[in-house]
Amino acid sequence: MEEKQSAEKSGVKIRRVIIKNGKNVDYPEKPVKNDPIVAQKRKILFVASEARPFIATGGLADVIGSLPQALAKDPAYDIRVVLPLYLDIKPEYRRKFSFLGNIFVPLAWRQQYCGIFTYEENGVTYYFIDNEQYFKRSGCYGYFDDGERFAFFSRAVMEILPFIDFYPEVLHCHDWQTALAAIYLKTIYCQRPEYQFIRSLFTIHNIEYQGKYALDILEDLFGIDNSNASLLEYAGCINLMKGAIECSEKFSTVSPTYANEIKTAEYAHGLQDIIAKNWFKLTGILNGIDVDSYNPMKDTALFASFSADDLENKKVCKSELQKMLGLPIKDVPIIAMITRLVSHKGLELVKAAAEDILHEDVQFVLLGTGDAAYENYFRDLGRRYEGKASINIAFNGDLSRKIYSGADIFLMPSISEPCGLSQMIASRYATVPVVRETGGLFDSIKPYGNGGNGFTFNSCNPYDMLYVLHEAMDTYKNKEEWKALMKKVATTDFSWDHSAEEYKKLYEETLKV
Ligand code: GLC
Repeated sequence: MEEKQSAEKSGVKIRRVIIKNGKNVDYPEKPVKNDPIVAQKRKILFVASEARPFIATGGLADVIGSLPQALAKDPAYDIRVVLPLYLDIKPEYRRKFSFLGNIFVPLAWRQQYCGIFTYEENGVTYYFIDNEQYFKRSGCYGYFDDGERFAFFSRAVMEILPFIDFYPEVLHCHDWQTALAAIYLKTIYCQRPEYQFIRSLFTIHNIEYQGKYALDILEDLFGIDNSNASLLEYAGCINLMKGAIECSEKFSTVSPTYANEIKTAEYAHGLQDIIAKNWFKLTGILNGIDVDSYNPMKDTALFASFSADDLENKKVCKSELQKMLGLPIKDVPIIAMITRLVSHKGLELVKAAAEDILHEDVQFVLLGTGDAAYENYFRDLGRRYEGKASINIAFNGDLSRKIYSGADIFLMPSISEPCGLSQMIASRYATVPVVRETGGLFDSIKPYGNGGNGFTFNSCNPYDMLYVLHEAMDTYKNKEEWKALMKKVATTDFSWDHSAEEYKKLYEETLKV
């Protein structure tokens, strides 16, 4: 009640609207369209398939969990995010969602139920799309009908706009799962007066996953008229990423270097011709990280807190990590990897160099899951180097923070890396990155020899990787030099401050098209 009064004093109208479990619930009045302050705000709608803190399988969730909030700090922006209401969304959040109502979404010949929930945090309004047939399953992806599930989601995003009374100026879609939202906007909705001013920006987080389907499902499953087939058709199939690149006013990737790399066949996974044709629409903006969440002074997962100015307690983080993982507590460099176990993470290089690395006076810690062949290889390595290598085949947020903070060297030898966040997170915890110069790794980590914040190598070969690893291990032996490097690494600015401004510029450019 008090909250209601103070909200009303501050000018936010509150209405009792929603009947939940028989109780009335206070809910802020929908912004009035002709309110001059609301009307002036830039309206951006993020459409994505995962976001922290609700649900995460990879780096995409970190970006959708932090970029909207960074943008929303600017009172000139009205930032909203739409996500699927997966079964696995953490219950502590789910409990707080309010049910707004439901509509029915047309998807080819189907009419599908679509419940709409909402939640607000840090100035961002979230909407969750509910449909139990599609989303009451564990995890986010990997089902035979993923194409239909995300087609429904994308179509629902377009259909809820009148219901939530929010027509964004920029529809910001991320990766293939939401590509159809940009495609539906161009092929179906832009003819409707309320939708005609919406422009779309499509961000590629990884070009490897494009959303490819057989041609004959275009009408029947996606509900797109065959006359629009050429927008989506590529190399004999429907390619949703290609369709979004063609249909969006602008598209972007998550680092400037990756934006250049995907113009080449080596990195484009077959889409180089489409990228070349649309190159004038392409921008690369380096991701940031949530520096509040990844803060060694505040992170409750750590064994002890420390800061760039006082690194003493990092030693506690290290010795406790060694104890926890069954490694001898001693002063040797811990080389850590936290990664999905897939080939583009450079695991062939690691395999080729592993014995050499482990013959040094080091400890090796790995955390990750992925391809069975890599999981088995690393398990075996762990058995052969017991007491020296700790192999953890798991996805474990708490352990990852303990490793980021307790290790000395963070290895990321990716063959391709659109941006990569782990090198930034490790840096925040004063763990020195060793990376291959590709994509966002190249843009965020500069070689120590030139006064930079880590160790880098260029060619995809294990000897070059070993060379810089030795450089790092040698530097580690010089305690004063290493301490100065740790401080430099930990104070590199990986916040969203700069990149959020870049996105604002990109939104303006998108609106000019
Ligand atoms: C994908 C990319 C990764 C990037 C992340 C967030 O997971 O593989 O490099 O950091 O998306 O954009």
